[in-house]
Amino acid sequence: MGLPTRRQFLSQTAATASLAALPIRALSQIQSATTLRAAAASESAASRGLLVGCCVPARALRNDPAYAALVKQQMNILVAENEFKFGPIHPQPTTFFFDDADTIIDFAEQNGMKMRGHNFVWHRALPPWFATYVTPQNAEQVLVNHIETVGGRYKGRIHSWDVVNEAIQVSDGLPNGMRNSPWQKVLPNYIDIAFRTARRVDPHALLTYNDYDIEAEDAASTAKRAAILDLVRGMQQRGVPIDAIGIQSHIHAGPKPDGSHTYGPALTQFMKDVQSLGLKLMLTEMDVNDRDIPADIPTRDAAVADLYSSYLRTTLANKNVLALLTWGITDKYTWLNHEGARKDGQPERSLPFDADLKPKPAFFAELNALKSAPRR
Ligand code: XIL
Repeated sequence: MGLPTRRQFLSQTAATASLAALPIRALSQIQSATTLRAAAASESAASRGLLVGCCVPARALRNDPAYAALVKQQMNILVAENEFKFGPIHPQPTTFFFDDADTIIDFAEQNGMKMRGHNFVWHRALPPWFATYVTPQNAEQVLVNHIETVGGRYKGRIHSWDVVNEAIQVSDGLPNGMRNSPWQKVLPNYIDIAFRTARRVDPHALLTYNDYDIEAEDAASTAKRAAILDLVRGMQQRGVPIDAIGIQSHIHAGPKPDGSHTYGPALTQFMKDVQSLGLKLMLTEMDVNDRDIPADIPTRDAAVADLYSSYLRTTLANKNVLALLTWGITDKYTWLNHEGARKDGQPERSLPFDADLKPKPAFFAELNALKSAPRR
């Protein structure tokens, strides 16, 4: 735990062609950089006016002190991995469970970090009662009550709320690319209702639409980006409040011929389009899936770090990006070991710190990208 010594750092970089190529003076500059949060925020001369953070599970914060110390050392914004989602926080129609969410937001506030809210509406993580209890007759009341209760409890303490998560799935074949989600089936105008309610309940939170598979150059991502821009334009025409787009950034190392693992001009253009609509941007759930790299650990770590570098240079170049959050800080707890895991059974190495909480080349790639981002 803690910052690497010079020797640890050099042994890390030896495995990484791109970092090993840096001159010695650059190496010592990197080593003298303190933490991700110092590089990102207004805590040092080198800071860029950015927020940097990760998702955290309440259980690890409570039971793993070394993990909690690392999060505290590196991050200045947090998001709950699952604890603010509908099912965990609203386990019965008239019962809410706030203990785990409170653990996370209290930890954030005690350590001078901001907190994101994730999320009010998603097609997953719904409680078992949703399917039998919610009908077209009561759906609006259920949704509004949920947002009033959860959003009201944390009012004034949330930097940005993912009001709606992953509402577009073009391949479902519905008009406007809408996903055929449980909410869509009972309440077709749920997006407008959710955003209007969120604004009324917590007027200072940035209201965010968050989605995935919108980063790459392939045709499916192109269609999804277009649907999101249309969604935002429609909301604006109807006077529905929305402040930001969350680009989840679950990206993949290892090339694919269809462009689905290539990140560049299309994403840059999408970010400009979002900016022209007057919205801010956040990278909300970044990790680099290495399942398509059948190779040894140094090679995998180098490929993951290279993608952290190139992706963050592309995205952080846009000054409207307010925050960068990774979906975890250590490979010890990455969700990718449970979803989308490697076929060879090896654990994923998708995050800046390894399972022993040691910084990997991806950490230095992230740190350098933060340090060289244009000032906000
Ligand atoms: C994931 C969590 O990391 C897992 O623990 C859980 O089992 C499923 O959800 N997009 C999102 C996140 O918006 O909420 C998801 O989190 C990952 C994909």
